[in-house]
Amino acid sequence: MAQIDGLRLIDPAAYAQHGYPHDEWTQLRRESPVQFFDPPGWLSYWAVTKHADIVEVSKQPEIFLNGPGMTMVRARSGDDKVQQQIRTVINMDPPVHWKYRKVGSPYFTPRAMHRLDSLVAETARKLVDGLGREGECDFIPEIASRHPLKVIAHILGVPEEDEPFILRLTNELFGSEDPEFQRSEDRMEGIKQLFMEFWGYFGKIIEDRRANPRDDLASVFANARIDDEPMGELETLGYFLIAFTAGHETTRGGIGGGFLELIERPELRKRWAAEPEITPRAVDEIMRYVTPVNHMMRTASQDYELHGEKIRSGDRLVLFYASANRDEEVFDEPLELRLDRHPNPHLAFGIGEHFCMGAHLARKTSGAIFRELVTRLESVELTGTPQRTASNLVPGFKHMPIRYRLAPAS
Ligand code: HEM
Repeated sequence: MAQIDGLRLIDPAAYAQHGYPHDEWTQLRRESPVQFFDPPGWLSYWAVTKHADIVEVSKQPEIFLNGPGMTMVRARSGDDKVQQQIRTVINMDPPVHWKYRKVGSPYFTPRAMHRLDSLVAETARKLVDGLGREGECDFIPEIASRHPLKVIAHILGVPEEDEPFILRLTNELFGSEDPEFQRSEDRMEGIKQLFMEFWGYFGKIIEDRRANPRDDLASVFANARIDDEPMGELETLGYFLIAFTAGHETTRGGIGGGFLELIERPELRKRWAAEPEITPRAVDEIMRYVTPVNHMMRTASQDYELHGEKIRSGDRLVLFYASANRDEEVFDEPLELRLDRHPNPHLAFGIGEHFCMGAHLARKTSGAIFRELVTRLESVELTGTPQRTASNLVPGFKHMPIRYRLAPAS
């Protein structure tokens, strides 16, 4: 047993204050890779910190379930129930999961994603152009957040003027532990209101795409069929919700975390600008290094022995992807950010049954903005301390004040 405070690994406030607990994870990987914690105020859990163990769990979706809850929540009534009421692919289990996954997955294949190439490149260019030749800004809301938001809003049929409204909803949903984004004193009441707003907004888009289908993801979701029947309303809305929530905050986290490294290490910017062909590897390395989605949870449906520990049916396992992505047994010099790292079997997008459906889109979106930035930034520096969102799930930066000088677009 390693002497570690189990709260540090899951407390949203600790993430906001100190970032990811890499020291604790390093100790756990070394001394106790599967360790049980029962922190006050939270559900008890097993912390799974090594790459091989996370792969072993993720590849047995019949034994380790998403349905009972996908993320670590407080032990207060209601939090786990809310998770169980949402019908999205991410909290379905076999054999149902695959039927629903097939609805969205053809849209996200690398070939199908080519249709977004010009949209993604143009959005990145316009956003960077909008910064002017030089000035100061908060990089997260102005670039890291707006770029993926615009791309996802476009494919989900949200008109440009509604983007701020959607941005507020996703911020509030992911930042429900963060005082800056909380909408109500009563957290559960706030979350319920949020779902009602999502429902009201996307309900109209669903109706429209049923009447007038187009070549977009909104039409795919609105007209989907499961076992020859129209997909249920809860599941249809769930798809909009998951695409927005899983797709926006996460990509913003990768762009923000990666950009901070590029600010602090001009030599990386220079190299990337000189060798734009390394973009795919560089983006994956940033995903590994930053790991925007810190963890996912599974619940054991039977007794199981993992890394010598006896897991009981009903126990929760927290898969710390950010720890697996620093695993010394898998990555050479894991603390180094190497733009050309290859191979790079990171788990930033999960693995197995629930592997991220939007991974190619996230790579494309992030690659476009990084390329635009590294080739045009003449100088950049922080003008204040970057601040993270208080979250144990996507604890990315919410503010990053910078001063910059840019070359004009070529
Ligand atoms: C940097 C950006 C992203 C990261 C780090 C990320 C990470 C992840 C991870 C770790 C999972 C696995 C969850 C599990 O094992 O339970 C996942 C699932 C998923 N992601 Fe992403 N994601 C990103 C972007 C996106 C985008 C852009 C979309 C779509 C617009 C998306 C849609 C999904 C969906 C639908 C699932 C559930 C798949 C399933 O359950 O079968 N993600 N993502």
